[in-house]
Amino acid sequence: MSDHEKLLRQLIDTMTASGSLRTEPWKNAAAATPRHEFLRSGFFRLVPGSAPSAWAPVQQDADGWLEACYADESLVTQIAGTITPADIRGEIMREPTSSSTLPSLVLRMLEDLNVEQKMKVLEIGTGTGYSTAVLCARQGGGNVTSIEYDQEVALRAREALSRLGTFPNLLTGDGLLGDDEGAPYDRIIATCAVRTVPTAWLQQTRPGGQILTTISGWLNASELVRLTVHDDGTASGPVLAGHVSFMLARPHLAPPLGMLPDLSAGEKREAILGPDVLDDWTTRFIAQFAVPTAQRLKLQHAGHDEDVLVDTETGSFAALYEEDGRWIVRQAGPEALWDAVEEQLGHWHTAGTPPVKEATVRVTPEGQSIHW
Ligand SMILES: C[S@@+](CC[C@H](N)C(=O)[O-])C[C@H]1O[C@@H](n2cnc3c(N)ncnc32)[C@H](O)[C@@H]1O
Repeated sequence: MSDHEKLLRQLIDTMTASGSLRTEPWKNAAAATPRHEFLRSGFFRLVPGSAPSAWAPVQQDADGWLEACYADESLVTQIAGTITPADIRGEIMREPTSSSTLPSLVLRMLEDLNVEQKMKVLEIGTGTGYSTAVLCARQGGGNVTSIEYDQEVALRAREALSRLGTFPNLLTGDGLLGDDEGAPYDRIIATCAVRTVPTAWLQQTRPGGQILTTISGWLNASELVRLTVHDDGTASGPVLAGHVSFMLARPHLAPPLGMLPDLSAGEKREAILGPDVLDDWTTRFIAQFAVPTAQRLKLQHAGHDEDVLVDTETGSFAALYEEDGRWIVRQAGPEALWDAVEEQLGHWHTAGTPPVKEATVRVTPEGQSIHW
């Protein structure tokens, strides 16, 4: 057995022991997919202790490269939309824009996808092509379409997949638009997060088909959801456990804050909830459904610390500050952002703050909502 085969076997044992890899067909698919083939252009390692995060390149010939390819770790493969490990020496401090997902998450999601043989699957976010290859090993390349936004990333994935003799339908473009030509699909799986589930995905999934995606947002909390598409073109389904997060689909990234609105304006009232509720992941995830285009920042204003939600699309804001032991909120603009957050969290509190895995997400062409 070669070095990589031994490492792959260990990885499969680890994923089986953790419960991510649960069934024989996916074990076989994982065993047939050598991850290092998708990482031949190297990857970036987080520099320990760096803040803000710095990344150092690891090339194919570096000590430990092969072992890292078979560790259960996400490996960043592109930074700032263009930079690959071959492009730099030393370190870089910019945002990752493509990666090879944590193998146990890839396999857990494929298990959660509930596929059956011959089902047609559309994957959004080809990345290195590793998850595409595992999917093809089970479904056959002819049943798999994968869309990648970034041309260079797509090209490298195509090369790696062809080297292994795997030929899915690979498309380059905005996966949020789906693939009208190949529709209807039985399953859609996204390995980038979305802020709102695109209507195109609802339209391109056959009734009874499923969409597995991470819903995230500009308050930076996300969860995996599995939606079943109904005859009327809407979809609904459970939130699956685990704080699963992916990089946001590029067109869904938060826009720059730009010029802030005039924060001295607005109506004041005593707040029912303080902004510290948003320090909790689950609370933020639920609140995001009420204020999907709001971003949070902390600043000093009029002599006190303020926690501010700003909605760059509508110009609305809600600024919260403490006064005599009470939280005061000042809101202005067409959307009363904090009213919306308090109402949304109020429903959750009335339901007894159940865990998010007991929630159902509903998506219609008009928008998405969360329910208990
Ligand atoms: C976490 S990586 C995918 C990892 C991949 N599944 C793997 O196993 O290597 C997310 C990918 O989604 C891509 N992406 C971002 N926005 C996208 C969009 N709108 N349509 C298609 N791909 C997108 C990114 O360029 C990135 O390569």
